[in-house]
Amino acid sequence: MRGDALLFFSLLVLSDAMPSGKIGVNYGRLGNNLPSAGQSIESLRAMKAGSVKLYDANPEILRLLAGTDIRVSIMVPNYEIINIATNQTSANKWVEDNVLAYHPETMIRTILVGNEVLSYCSDEGKRMWNHLVPAMRRIKISLRAQDIHLDFHSIRLSIAETGWPSAGDTGDTGASIYNAATYNRNLVTKMTGRPPIGTPARPGLFIPAFIFSLYDENQKTGPGTERHWGLLHANGTSIYQIDLTGKRASSEYEPLPATHNDMPYGGKSWCVAAPDVNLTELEGALTFACSQGNGTCEALTPGKECYEPLSVIWHASFAFSSYWAKFRSQGASCYFNGLAVQTTSDPSESA
Ligand SMILES: *[C@@H]1O[C@H](CO)[C@@H](O)[C@H](O)[C@H]1NC(C)=O
Ligand SMILES: *[C@@H]1O[C@H](CO)[C@@H](O)[C@H](O)[C@H]1NC(C)=O
Ligand SMILES: *[C@@H]1O[C@H](CO)[C@@H](O)[C@H](O)[C@H]1NC(C)=O
Ligand SMILES: *[C@@H]1O[C@H](CO)[C@@H](O)[C@H](O)[C@H]1NC(C)=O
Repeated sequence: MRGDALLFFSLLVLSDAMPSGKIGVNYGRLGNNLPSAGQSIESLRAMKAGSVKLYDANPEILRLLAGTDIRVSIMVPNYEIINIATNQTSANKWVEDNVLAYHPETMIRTILVGNEVLSYCSDEGKRMWNHLVPAMRRIKISLRAQDIHLDFHSIRLSIAETGWPSAGDTGDTGASIYNAATYNRNLVTKMTGRPPIGTPARPGLFIPAFIFSLYDENQKTGPGTERHWGLLHANGTSIYQIDLTGKRASSEYEPLPATHNDMPYGGKSWCVAAPDVNLTELEGALTFACSQGNGTCEALTPGKECYEPLSVIWHASFAFSSYWAKFRSQGASCYFNGLAVQTTSDPSESA
């Protein structure tokens, strides 16, 4: 999930694709500590999610969803777009392997072609842009050949990802449990209302919406908020109470912890080595930070003011802070694959 405009392209697969009237949940899996697919589907059922959106067409998950009443949105991954756009045999094979193999026991209702495709602006990314619509056309041809009816007229506005992070870095104003719970509970109330609220231009229309996301995902890169979009912790427990059916009144929830970061943080913060990390990897990240130029590590050279104490942890903390201070305005984050964390206490005072 990125903060900028999100663009999605979807095809509704089946003519009975009448939306369930329930809220959907994005099931992102960029974590190395997440519950199994089976446990995750149990959680989705217990939460009464109406649908689930996958970022691929994972065979195990699609098999486990068979026979459940959860509607499923699958995705052609970005790296397959060009191949599918230029080769009908590849498109047919994708549909056979990822749709026909599970249809109709698994209620696949939407096929998304690509994820955030228009936010990739490299030459390779732009090649993908040009192949996006052709890939959608080929998938459509494959579905038709398989007699899976497409009903383009029923395509409606959908919200593929929406949500609020429950935590983040020091500078991530407003990322809190209170705000996340409030946003998502209000979203559910609005989107499950009867009759549907719709939009100002289309009152009464049901808009399918997928909350981002099921879990906090510890392997997402970028600012701290990226790793805190979950409704659930990585161990499967709830971060805050939420009733996805929208039936629970706000007064029936337990009180939420107060938010302390609704205003921008005005103080200083540093980016330092995270505790208990692998020192070999930390050394690699230190080398990377120091190779970014602009004098990032000048003060660490022998004889300079920050050379002592001569430890990987101290040098990495200095280099991360220096790198972050210099390149933050250009989008650099304090992450380094989980080797760095933010702090509001000056690391040089403990060095
Ligand atoms: C199209 O893809 C199929 C398999 O997916 C492959 O066997 C075939 O060689 C491809 N055709 C071209 C022209 O690349
Ligand atoms: C689950 O993880 C959260 C966050 O790390 C932690 O606070 C909580 O105690 C854990 N719960 C269980 C049952 O392990
Ligand atoms: C530390 O990381 C290196 C490189 O990834 C790896 O080879 C090594 O096994 C790790 N050491 C420990 C103790 O995990
Ligand atoms: C880094 O150095 C280059 C070349 O001297 C300069 O153009 C750029 O603005 C510097 N960037 C930062 C963040 O200081």
